[in-house]
Amino acid sequence: MKRSVEKSNRSCAPGQGRMERMPHIIDGRKTAELSLAATATQIAALRARGITPGLAVVLVGDHPASQAYVRSKDKTCRELGMHSRKYELPRETAQDELLTLIRDLNADPAIHGILVQSPPPPQIDEQMVVQAIDPRKDVDGFHPLNVAALAMDDPAAIVPCTPLGCLELLRAHDIETSGAHAVVVGRSLIVGKPMAMLLLRKGADATVTVAHSRTRDLAAVTRSADIVIAAIGRPHFLGADHVRDGAVVIDVGINRVEDASSPRGYRLVGDVDFDAVAPKCRAITPVPGGVGPMTIAMLMRNTVEACERMAAAG
Ligand SMILES: NC(=O)c1ccc[n+]([C@@H]2O[C@H](COP(=O)([O-])OP(=O)(O)OC[C@H]3O[C@@H](n4cnc5c(N)ncnc54)[C@H](OP(=O)(O)O)[C@@H]3O)[C@@H](O)[C@H]2O)c1
Repeated sequence: MKRSVEKSNRSCAPGQGRMERMPHIIDGRKTAELSLAATATQIAALRARGITPGLAVVLVGDHPASQAYVRSKDKTCRELGMHSRKYELPRETAQDELLTLIRDLNADPAIHGILVQSPPPPQIDEQMVVQAIDPRKDVDGFHPLNVAALAMDDPAAIVPCTPLGCLELLRAHDIETSGAHAVVVGRSLIVGKPMAMLLLRKGADATVTVAHSRTRDLAAVTRSADIVIAAIGRPHFLGADHVRDGAVVIDVGINRVEDASSPRGYRLVGDVDFDAVAPKCRAITPVPGGVGPMTIAMLMRNTVEACERMAAAG
């Protein structure tokens, strides 16, 4: 099975050669489209055998950004010809009710992927919910067995979608990670830590530094990077001083900032000050239109691969 999306024409080796006048803008939407097209082919092959991959997305509460993410996942599933189920549960849903739903979905042969949208309301113990999901259906890759499998270089690991999408962007845009110094800013379980593990894996072979809020002289650390991955959650936090000439910058951040000129009253920006940083970069992702679309594309891929594995296991 072909895992990588098609390559762009342009080759970008971080840390080598002179800085280009214009950075290569890594188009996440286009790369995600190519990835989704490959996934659609896998789905067609499964459907020809009478198998339709199914994803269940569970949302507890009415967090507006979460509602938008869930709608978008549901829409992408349907467009690809997958079976999609969306559960929108009231904010006051009890932990036991949610666990009962998860158990039902674990046992449901039409469902191959289960995702509980984060963040849940405070009465829900997120870790307990993640651990209740059948690890084979844990398409977010947050179950401890999948976390361990990633750490152990087990190819069967289901890898969290956002870091997987970042790695896929680097691969699809011919950005060499082998031997490169990658600095991941952020150590969350959903982005920073799995990103670091992915870059460290054999095949990716980067030299990885993980920075966080206690890192001393962050700018000096990030300036030493060939590849900077920003997963901080603070708008425009990394500026020109944080990045050296010719670096590759992947901006995971999605932050809402007030914008009276926008009909919604806000706009989305990354953790990187794009206008200040881009002129120094060899390649950089925009926000929106960078990592975000890849996250959904990787969720679809993880679900289809989970379905293929379950079908093969009989
Ligand atoms: N594009 C996508 O699909 C996607 C998916 C997931 C998340 N995101 C976005 O990515 C960003 C990060 O998400 P997350 O879930 O990883 O966030 P998180 O759980 O809040 O983690 C943020 C990390 O940034 C570190 N940090 C905070 N302030 C810092 C500082 N001043 N200097 C250095 N490090 C600092 C924190 O360090 P400590 O550990 O020391 O506190 C923490 O490790 C958010 O904007 C989120 O919306 C995007």
